[in-house]
Amino acid sequence: MEKRHELYAGKAKSVFTTDDPDRLILHFRDDTSAFDGERMESLERKGMVNNRFNAFIMGRLDAAGIPTHFEGLRSDDECVVKNMEMLPVECVVRNIAAGSLVKRLGVEEGGELDPPTFELFLKNDAQHDPMINESLAETFGWATPEQLAEMKALTFRVNEVLKKLFADGGLLLVDYKLEFGVFKGQIVLGDEFSPDGCRLWDAETREKLDKDRFRQGLGGVIEAYEEVGKRIGVDFS
Ligand code: TMP
Ligand code: ASP
Repeated sequence: MEKRHELYAGKAKSVFTTDDPDRLILHFRDDTSAFDGERMESLERKGMVNNRFNAFIMGRLDAAGIPTHFEGLRSDDECVVKNMEMLPVECVVRNIAAGSLVKRLGVEEGGELDPPTFELFLKNDAQHDPMINESLAETFGWATPEQLAEMKALTFRVNEVLKKLFADGGLLLVDYKLEFGVFKGQIVLGDEFSPDGCRLWDAETREKLDKDRFRQGLGGVIEAYEEVGKRIGVDFS
């Protein structure tokens, strides 16, 4: 597959066209951002680590029957994906209270959420990714009610697969964010799944092993990503 021109550069990944109109190349850069791009830093090895982490997770989700855009690894920090029309909506499931939920509702961090919660956010850095709902998404044309229902169902199916995968590695899947697109009329999981877009805590000590280490200046960010990867069987060699 031939790489053509850069279509779009996000905060952590760049997207390239290819000689196949149905396929794109995702380049995972070392750039790391937090607070809607307010804080940016380059962390050595991050592109490679997140590319391999994402490939492993997408493979597990695909094996569980969840449609994903992932087609295969292309290099250490690139993969090939389906060329989808992305929906500007972020789907968040939480198993344990943390992050913006704690700030918004004043609940204590670490409390179990039973049943797990589902939230929608608009992908819009300038507006700081505001929380939205199904009604707003429909009115403004961000996603149809049918698309939203499918995204919600898939986001919860991902929870069942990944909660168990991480639990087997002694990890708690606290929360995560997914983004979806439309490929040939079907809702398909897009973007990435890596410790950049989820919270993972050690099940015993509750040590944070995800991007909160970067957000909170705790250090050892990539070492933590590699640790969680190794615990679930990702090959970084
Ligand atoms: P939050 O607690 O900041 O709302 O985030 C919930 C989860 O979703 C957390 O794992 C981080 C992830 N997330 C992103 O990766 N990017 C985003 O833009 C948002 C809103 C959340
Ligand atoms: N994903 C957003 C950013 O990179 C929010 C965050 O992770 O804090 O700025």
